[in-house]
Amino acid sequence: MTINTTPVGTDMSAGQTAREAKEHQSIPDLMTAVVRRRYGGPEVVEVERVAAPKPEANQVVVKVAAAGIDRGVSHLLTGMPLLVRLVGFGVLRPKQPVLGYDVAGRVVAVGSNVERLRVGDEVMGIADGSYAEFAVADADKLVLRPSNVTVDNAAVSTISGITALQALTKVGQVRPGQQVLVIGASGGVGSFAVQIATALGAQVTGVAGASNLDTVRQLGAIKVVDYRTKAIDQIGGTFDLVIDIGGRNPISRLRRVLTPTGTLVMVGGEGGGRLTGGMGRTAWAALLSLFSKQRLVAFISSESLEFIEPLAEMLADGSVVPHIGARTDLVGVADAIARLETHGVAGKTLVTVGGAS
Ligand SMILES: NC(=O)c1ccc[n+]([C@@H]2O[C@H](COP(=O)([O-])OP(=O)(O)OC[C@H]3O[C@@H](n4cnc5c(N)ncnc54)[C@H](OP(=O)(O)O)[C@@H]3O)[C@@H](O)[C@H]2O)c1
Repeated sequence: MTINTTPVGTDMSAGQTAREAKEHQSIPDLMTAVVRRRYGGPEVVEVERVAAPKPEANQVVVKVAAAGIDRGVSHLLTGMPLLVRLVGFGVLRPKQPVLGYDVAGRVVAVGSNVERLRVGDEVMGIADGSYAEFAVADADKLVLRPSNVTVDNAAVSTISGITALQALTKVGQVRPGQQVLVIGASGGVGSFAVQIATALGAQVTGVAGASNLDTVRQLGAIKVVDYRTKAIDQIGGTFDLVIDIGGRNPISRLRRVLTPTGTLVMVGGEGGGRLTGGMGRTAWAALLSLFSKQRLVAFISSESLEFIEPLAEMLADGSVVPHIGARTDLVGVADAIARLETHGVAGKTLVTVGGAS
């Protein structure tokens, strides 16, 4: 795979300095943003005029064209499970009032230490507060948007895509020909996991709700299963690798569908206790792993270029095409997050902010 590094819309030929100066001026003092100042449900979310961000030395400011919604945003809105507050997002109230991480847009200001990116670059990746007209981002969490990847597809891909990529490769060490079970195959992470596993030569069985089974099949799964009508240990056969994104299955049942030397990767899952939520099973799994030839592993996704760059390559070569199951604008973000909780969304929810830049 070769990444197409032609930055869309970058004028590298002439007038770069003049353009940089103009772009700097194009950051207004105030911007529209989706804000919450305390933890809670969608009712604590407001669309407000707030101060536009300025970059620190290793950061850039992106004029946001579009953003994506994932389950993590929902956890950071509610502050639940409590573990999310304890890992640095703010114990009593959120440290960053502006919501949103997935981003695509154009760089309009760069910090003094940033050399990889320039004003005018079209980028995709992870920002801090992307449901806004302008968002600040660490430069090493952004890559140039490949010229053949649309703003919308770039905007919804990074958070879920790099989680799926790491679960399958770095943690799960998937190999061609292996049987892979993806539990939660229709959601944000799962829709990427099915495609990436298939692109890497694995045979994928996808578990999802009945209404999303056709989508999961179209993403590449050779077999699909409705979790409401069939437990995973009734599917038949065993799997070299189980990617558990949906959670809710006890470890004992997950182990029954693994081969004797198979690997279980626990990505997430809703429900569970107030402290650790769906990740509550992981300590037990780590202990069991010490006495078993099966590998039982949980991980937290690393937001690094090591994974964002290959994900961008997969988007550019077409081996992964994000599934956008819902769309909104900034005003509709709170409802869209609520809908993710109550009804689920196949694939990702797109937030259109400035549109194609
Ligand atoms: N470890 C990490 O670093 C990391 C990174 C990202 C996300 N996560 C976590 O991963 C989880 C999934 O995130 P996401 O963005 O993919 O969420 P999502 O878009 O809401 O997808 C959830 C998936 O789980 C399925 N599901 C729901 N109930 C299920 C059940 N009882 N059994 C099996 N599957 C079930 C859903 O199927 P239907 O919608 O078809 O019913 C859907 O496919 C979340 O808990 C999130 O916090 C962890």
